[in-house]
Amino acid sequence: MSKIIPYGHQSIDESDIQVVIKVLKADRITQGPEIDKFENALAKFVGAKYAVATSSGTAALHAACIACGITQGDEVIVPTLSFIASANCVLYCGGKPVLVDIYPDTLTINVEEVERKITKKTKAIIAVDFAGHPAHWDKLKKLASKYRLTLIDDASHAIGSKYKNKPIGSIADLTTFSFHPVKTITTGEGGAVTTNNKIYFEKLKKLRHHGIYKNNDLSKKFGAWFYQVMDLGYNYRMTDIQAALGVSQLSKIDQFIKKRRRIWQKYNQAFGKIHELTLPTEQNGCFCAWHIYTVRLKAKAKKSRRQVFDFLRKAGIGVQVHYIPIHMLDLYRKRFRLKAISFPVAEQYYKETMSLPLFAKMTDKEVNFVIKTLKDAIR
Ligand SMILES: Cc1ncc(COP(=O)(O)O)c(C=O)c1O
Repeated sequence: MSKIIPYGHQSIDESDIQVVIKVLKADRITQGPEIDKFENALAKFVGAKYAVATSSGTAALHAACIACGITQGDEVIVPTLSFIASANCVLYCGGKPVLVDIYPDTLTINVEEVERKITKKTKAIIAVDFAGHPAHWDKLKKLASKYRLTLIDDASHAIGSKYKNKPIGSIADLTTFSFHPVKTITTGEGGAVTTNNKIYFEKLKKLRHHGIYKNNDLSKKFGAWFYQVMDLGYNYRMTDIQAALGVSQLSKIDQFIKKRRRIWQKYNQAFGKIHELTLPTEQNGCFCAWHIYTVRLKAKAKKSRRQVFDFLRKAGIGVQVHYIPIHMLDLYRKRFRLKAISFPVAEQYYKETMSLPLFAKMTDKEVNFVIKTLKDAIR
């Protein structure tokens, strides 16, 4: 194999290219009609009443935190195993991300530990459907209602996943998505928030456009140019070019997920008898639209994770590590004086893990090559 096989890659075909060209030739390439089309299609797909498209998954998380009122001094509970944006969005609002450990099987937030970390200052929980595996939403919902907390689902990995037959995007108070090219569908850069709550929806619409609002009454009274701003907002808008790509990608999502699941099954079959490895499994009641395939090399393995990782990279396989737990990053470790001992499961996972290539466009030849090379690497 001459070209590197990346751990994730977009699947763009001629129909995607044609819709983008069409928008580029249209009047409006931003703030036009494609945004509504994408938001409606997304809301329908995830079974939510409302969707608000944003410029990135990070912008979606920040906007969701503002919409539910996170501000100076508030605490928000976040799993330490996630991409840094899941915690940074709380810092953006002046809040304190309170990191907690994960469950060893689903790699999602440990709900019993969440309860131990709740204080009078706790305002929300951000749970992550890690790798596409849903968090323990029943337990989280019970806890959120007991302590009157807002539930945010960082579903950047999990568009198309289901928890007890409910699509991710319709369960938490606010759910955020990312459409970065490594994700199941892409808009280049892009994100969205979905919700069933009209108040959040209206806040989010304003927030992503500088806090500006307009309506017919104001226009009649003061002139057609008139708008008002009451709260600080941002430019977190998605373009129509991206939104049109999003609609086209969404129309193919079932195929993408099918292919991702087929590769996950193929890897699991191939590695199932290798005792040095821990493989990603789907818990009862969950349907995973796998975003990444995290394989763990147990401590008893002959080779170290570093040796296997380097071997695969040398062979042209773009393995990656998802992620360095947030409590290990200096910004968090130093600022909040965090210690490894508080996060034993995430620490152990981090020592063992690497993500193998998984994307819809992967060929059988590439999948077989990854399987063979990993087997060679651990021998
Ligand atoms: C769990 C998680 N949250 C948030 C983000 C941020 O998304 P974006 O890169 O679209 O800003 C990512 C992106 O990789 C992610 O994996």
